[in-house]
Amino acid sequence: MKTIDDLGDVRGRRVLVRSDLNVPLEHGDQPGSGARITDDGRVRASVPVIKRLSDAGARVVVMSHLGRPKGAPEAKYSLEPVAGRLAELLGRPVAFAADTVGESAASTVAGLADGDVALLENLRFDPGETSKDETERGEFAARLAALGDAVVVDGFGVVHRKHASVYDVVKRLPHAAGDLVLKEVEVLRRLTDPERPYAVVLGGSKVSDKLGVIANLLKVADRLLIGGGMVFTFLKAQGHEVGRSLLEEDQLDAVRGYLAQAEERGVEVVLPVDVVAATAFAADAEHDVYAADAIPADRLGLDIGPRSGELFASKLADTATVFWNGPMGVFEMAPYADGTRAVAQALVDAKAFSVVGGGDYAAAVRQLGFDEKAFGHISTGGGASLEYLEGKELPGLTVLSD
Ligand code: 3PG
Ligand code: MG
Repeated sequence: MKTIDDLGDVRGRRVLVRSDLNVPLEHGDQPGSGARITDDGRVRASVPVIKRLSDAGARVVVMSHLGRPKGAPEAKYSLEPVAGRLAELLGRPVAFAADTVGESAASTVAGLADGDVALLENLRFDPGETSKDETERGEFAARLAALGDAVVVDGFGVVHRKHASVYDVVKRLPHAAGDLVLKEVEVLRRLTDPERPYAVVLGGSKVSDKLGVIANLLKVADRLLIGGGMVFTFLKAQGHEVGRSLLEEDQLDAVRGYLAQAEERGVEVVLPVDVVAATAFAADAEHDVYAADAIPADRLGLDIGPRSGELFASKLADTATVFWNGPMGVFEMAPYADGTRAVAQALVDAKAFSVVGGGDYAAAVRQLGFDEKAFGHISTGGGASLEYLEGKELPGLTVLSD
């Protein structure tokens, strides 16, 4: 992959930077009361490359998406609050363009001096960004490309998307992978030939989201620890009743297949021995700890239990490498955060090289009060890191290698 060094002298050149500034926002309930960024991890991760280019005298034009608007402007998905935070972190002004390829973008970019930084409005306000139609995407990409003399892709979180700003623009301009993308890829590559024992901790709500990656991880991992909503499909596959817990009936056969494969390959699968089950999906619902094979019919499991937390910690203590993707329970609600906290603590205590995969939930690790420096690497990409480990081709990386 080409790097920023390969672009040569960028002074005076307009350099588009595709970052992933897709941060969680909280909106005030009063109109005009503004939005608050609840975790700025992705903005912070994007700063070094923007600063590097600005320091080198480039006219930096940052572009990103936020959320999943449907190809038209929607105020709650505006990147404007992110421009403010980016400026604070950079310690220099960030000119905000109120559109992506329209008049505001053109005049904002034209007004940049060497070293200045601009941010375009949310790319997904234009249907061309995510279009499946090559022509429509290409037209939008051409208009973006007209705003720059080179493009740097630094948004690792979007390299699995064949989107105009990630893929098509790269075909039209001198291009390079940003330092964040290079670092993320280097870390993930390490997981394909890991130091052992290698444990993978998977959580999150759906088995179906993780089918491909589970199949691939079973070829590499020594241990697979499973929690989160997806665990109930595993418990059910083992013949246990799971009450009203999340269950994907249509995945039961696939899960049985994984369990058989794991056994064949000598991969140790570790499931919770107890769960916190509540009367409703609510923080204030009545909840208790039950053995994993004795979940009452009228309850739903919302976290792994304390004995499971200890079990998982003991299975992580002697590892050399850990990849963790997905929370162990509904950590957003305090009564169901302990399982996720226990795994995070176990990773902090273990000597392993630990990689925490993924977007909004990596933010949770910070919100639970853990110092990100205690982990080997907190990825900015959820879907992207999973698809990488699944062995899929990531269009945003392939095109950077051309
Ligand atoms: C993410 O949140 O994983 C990235 O920003 C990509 O967002 P997307 O899943 O909406 O494409
Ligand atoms: Mg996402």
